[in-house]
Amino acid sequence: MKIVLTGFMGTGKTSVGRELGRRLGYPFIDTDNLIEKREGMPVSLIFKEKGEDYFRQLECETVAAVSEEDKVVIATGGGVIKNKINVHNLRRRGIIIWLKADPEIIIKRVMLEGGKRPLLEVEEPLNEIKRLLAEREALYMQADVSINTNYITPGEAADEIAEMLGLNLETVRVQLKERSYEILIGAKTLQRLGLRLKEFRPSKIAIVSNKTTFPLYKDAVLNSMTEHGLTPEVFLIPDGEEYKDLLWASYLYGELLNKRFDRDSLLVALGGGVVGDLTGFVASTYMRGIKYVQAPTTLLAQVDSSVGGKTGVNHELGKNMIGTFYQPSLVLIDTDTLKTLPQREFSAGMAEIIKYGVIADRRLTKRSKTEKSGSSSPNPSARSGLKTGLRGK
Ligand SMILES: NC(=O)c1ccc[n+]([C@@H]2O[C@H](COP(=O)([O-])OP(=O)(O)OC[C@H]3O[C@@H](n4cnc5c(N)ncnc54)[C@H](O)[C@@H]3O)[C@@H](O)[C@H]2O)c1
Repeated sequence: MKIVLTGFMGTGKTSVGRELGRRLGYPFIDTDNLIEKREGMPVSLIFKEKGEDYFRQLECETVAAVSEEDKVVIATGGGVIKNKINVHNLRRRGIIIWLKADPEIIIKRVMLEGGKRPLLEVEEPLNEIKRLLAEREALYMQADVSINTNYITPGEAADEIAEMLGLNLETVRVQLKERSYEILIGAKTLQRLGLRLKEFRPSKIAIVSNKTTFPLYKDAVLNSMTEHGLTPEVFLIPDGEEYKDLLWASYLYGELLNKRFDRDSLLVALGGGVVGDLTGFVASTYMRGIKYVQAPTTLLAQVDSSVGGKTGVNHELGKNMIGTFYQPSLVLIDTDTLKTLPQREFSAGMAEIIKYGVIADRRLTKRSKTEKSGSSSPNPSARSGLKTGLRGK
């Protein structure tokens, strides 16, 4: 994902961008700087000597080139968003963040900087800022989200952005040639689902869940989507392994076709392994493959079935007999969902964790033997904390 900062001059794009890049370990790119380097003169001089049209053309080429990058923070010039092509390019696999500030703050910051701002070389710069802000407001509103930088430091603004996008959470990147994706792990991550989905620019979104899980997380998921202007369809299947079959896959195909889902649509699997496997299978086969996101809500699905891209349905002659390998675009694990998980399901997940643990590191079996033979766990309260803390009520 690339993070694009837009907004009027003096709203902090460069300073916030640098801080954000540092925090995330992403390179920071300033489109104005790139243009200045290429032309060997400051923006103010390009405006003066070659005119605004020439500058805007250069800007458009620069934006197109930097839009190809992934995992970068890009600060754009204040007028970049005026051009539709620029907006289109920046939105591809990117989230656009609008930095806002009041005109009085903007003028102070610009004066403190001391640099020349061609658009403000007029008699009444404050009025000019107000006029330009009003003119551009509708354009800036094309951004995915905004933050006000009036009274916060660039570091605080960077923290706020990282938090909104869940980039301050534990993240595992699954590195594959063409279909790399991220696994975000943390509490309350479902609240970030809406904003994170915008990165994929889906034409339509459907949440696939079951009748047990959806009511529990409906508010968190739907609120986060509507907050970002997304209006998903919701398709529910009955609860149980026996519904992970071609009949229910066919039901989902029918719903998707009826609602005119196309190749740019996206599915979100909200539930345990059954929902995840079925949704992944449908996503991999509908219109020869559409994007899907896993939001696993059982421990087993979080540690196993939601990652790796194995999808499938059961056949009357065998379990998981029909399936595909098809990677999700994102896995978003909200550890808070474990609080409502029945004990039995929690234990099933723990058994899987122990199995993988032992496969990965044989010394773990020795450790558990020592613990059994009397010497207590190095941290018994942590052990009981795992049960009570994670499972909660
Ligand atoms: N694709 C893979 O790599 C892979 C790997 C392992 C297992 N699987 C598949 O996963 C399935 C098993 O997954 P599972 O164990 O998650 O079962 P599941 O999906 O049936 O979920 C177990 C139960 O927990 C409920 N539930 C889910 N989240 C909840 C929550 N947060 N709070 C309360 N209840 C909740 C469900 O409604 C269900 O009743 C099997 O079909 C198996 O074949 C797939």
